Amino acid sequence: MKWNAADYAANSAAQQIWARELIAQLHLRGDERILDVGCGDGKVTAELARAVPKGSAAGIDASPEMIRFARKTFPPGKHPNLGFQIMDAREISFAVLSALGSAGVSPASTDFRLPTGGRDASAPKRRRIISNSNPRSPTLSPLGRGEEEEEAWFDVVFSSSALHWVDDHRAFLRGAASVLRSGGRLVVSCGGKGNAQDVFVALRPEMRLKQWCKFFRKMEKPYFLYGPADYEKWLPRFGFKTHNVKLTPKDAVYPGRDRFAAWFRTTWLPYTQRVPENVREEFIVAVTDRYLAKHPPDMGGRVRVRMVRLEIDAVKV
Ligand SMILES: C[S@@+](CC[C@H](N)C(=O)[O-])C[C@H]1O[C@@H](n2cnc3c(N)ncnc32)[C@H](O)[C@@H]1O
Repeated sequence: MKWNAADYAANSAAQQIWARELIAQLHLRGDERILDVGCGDGKVTAELARAVPKGSAAGIDASPEMIRFARKTFPPGKHPNLGFQIMDAREISFAVLSALGSAGVSPASTDFRLPTGGRDASAPKRRRIISNSNPRSPTLSPLGRGEEEEEAWFDVVFSSSALHWVDDHRAFLRGAASVLRSGGRLVVSCGGKGNAQDVFVALRPEMRLKQWCKFFRKMEKPYFLYGPADYEKWLPRFGFKTHNVKLTPKDAVYPGRDRFAAWFRTTWLPYTQRVPENVREEFIVAVTDRYLAKHPPDMGGRVRVRMVRLEIDAVKV
């Protein structure tokens, strides 16, 4: 899937609001080291970096387009405590991060460094943590199969509006646990069970129409929407103590029809990108029309979408 990072940056005000709400929940002191998973265009990671002037923020994302855009928008010269790296949320590994950082070489760029932040060398040391693998389920150990120990580094693993794109949340949890120090926090907000139902209701009948159905054959599930029961089961398996896991209804509000359509164009890529470019806009307009027929703009012209967020707050034991 190819993201248009500039288009996303210009049409992600709702995601930015949600991310700011999540950042507020962190109650940052200012010296934390933060990993932002699924960082996208990097503007949220940059906000995190600003909130930790004596710490650092590193953004990882599977999309080369997003990481290229983030690096260009926030160059290391101007943002010394901020860094970006292409990495899949299912393959988070401190070994990979540090190897790339110290070698200064990455598949996508040669300028990646783990941001060092403002902590001096005598400040809290990297801690070595030993795998607390569950002998009954070794493959679910926080550090993954075959890894005996690893240096934990981050105080916070943060992720906003990204994990519903990830099919294997347990792999994400394993990686997050491996890079978090003991006592470090996992704070996540993503699409949860029941998210954007009304959009699916507009989308599905449109996809079945003769002119579009050929583009949607053999389509795999593009989003992975979980609920608290899933995470309450998984978190302890990967060495986390759950503080809070809940589904929260939230409205996304778009200033008008065009903004709704822009959001659909920029983030519903698994659907829109199946439609050839020459008729894609027509498809987007058709889905927008269907949605607005049932959910017309309010008196102020605003279009609302009922979203459901899965919010997770846990601590690495
Ligand atoms: C809607 S954007 C959110 C970006 C940013 N966190 C924000 O709040 O604006 C979702 C991001 O998740 C990333 N993503 C999807 N699957 C991923 C994966 N398996 N690993 C890492 N990033 C992934 C996408 O590339 C995209 O940049």
